[in-house]
Amino acid sequence: MTNPRKIIIDTDPGQDDAVAILLALASPEELEVLGLSVVAGNVPIAMTSRNARVVCELAGRPDLAVYEGATRPLLRAPVTAEHVHGRTGLDGAEVDEPVMPVVPQHSVDFLIETLRREPSGTVTICTLGPQTNLAMALQRAPDIAPRIREVVMMGGGLFEGGNITPAAEFNIYVDPHASKLVFSSGIPIVVLPLDVTHQLLTTKARMDRIGAIGSRVSEVVTGWLQFFERFDVEKYGSDGGPLHDPSVIAYLLKPELFSGRVCNIEIETASELTMGMTVVDWWRVTGRQANATFLRTVDADGFFELLTERLARL
Ligand code: RIB
Ligand code: CA
Repeated sequence: MTNPRKIIIDTDPGQDDAVAILLALASPEELEVLGLSVVAGNVPIAMTSRNARVVCELAGRPDLAVYEGATRPLLRAPVTAEHVHGRTGLDGAEVDEPVMPVVPQHSVDFLIETLRREPSGTVTICTLGPQTNLAMALQRAPDIAPRIREVVMMGGGLFEGGNITPAAEFNIYVDPHASKLVFSSGIPIVVLPLDVTHQLLTTKARMDRIGAIGSRVSEVVTGWLQFFERFDVEKYGSDGGPLHDPSVIAYLLKPELFSGRVCNIEIETASELTMGMTVVDWWRVTGRQANATFLRTVDADGFFELLTERLARL
């Protein structure tokens, strides 16, 4: 058994972020979560911070370090998604207010100090929301870039288009300047885009299997996802909604569930019409330097089997 992979989860909970965090905390043999770094995104940071701590306590991990980071994007005005996630960001289930405190250190300082302390190439950064914290850390401490093993991120889209505008996916749209900086950093990047997450639908059969676990965690997760999916079910007319962020953790646990290709990805920051678009050179027509692995296919049943099995452990 190899040592667990060290990860930092940067997140804007959000019901789907919450399930991703639960999946990671249910997998201690494979993943060592060094801390949660929260960012404003789906809801303002006071709520993403509260929500991250709700999830930690639900998972029986009130010891986990939670850090608060950027309250707004680098340059653009804040954009939130209460229309999808509800006012709290975790609408859909009754939960206790968290008792655990946040760690009184800014996320950016936590990222920099951790990456300078841990052996180079051993820490993976998982971003589940706008990439503001990571971008600020790279701006303030460029020396950390080569020390990061990999950035594994939920964001972007190509053949699926966008979900907040016709061209852009929410995480990138909220802070396109941050993502532009990340994609030009030279850090190895793996992208879980809408092209993958739109295949991960919370169908009734899959939700029934999670509900059948019969635990407090499964009860809360079922409530969260039934609330979360309603917007996309209405929009796409699908059986269930796309489960975005847990795909990042599932990739770390079982990469063989996914496939894609290394190619060049640029981020639109000039045009309001396509602001935040991930311009993915999938057919390699530009000759631009490849800078990321863009995943496009996933074994959806295998993903939900993994998720359900791990949630049952909590
Ligand atoms: O576009 C989906 C992404 O935006 C997910 O990470 C969801 O939580 C929101 O942050
Ligand atoms: Ca998210």
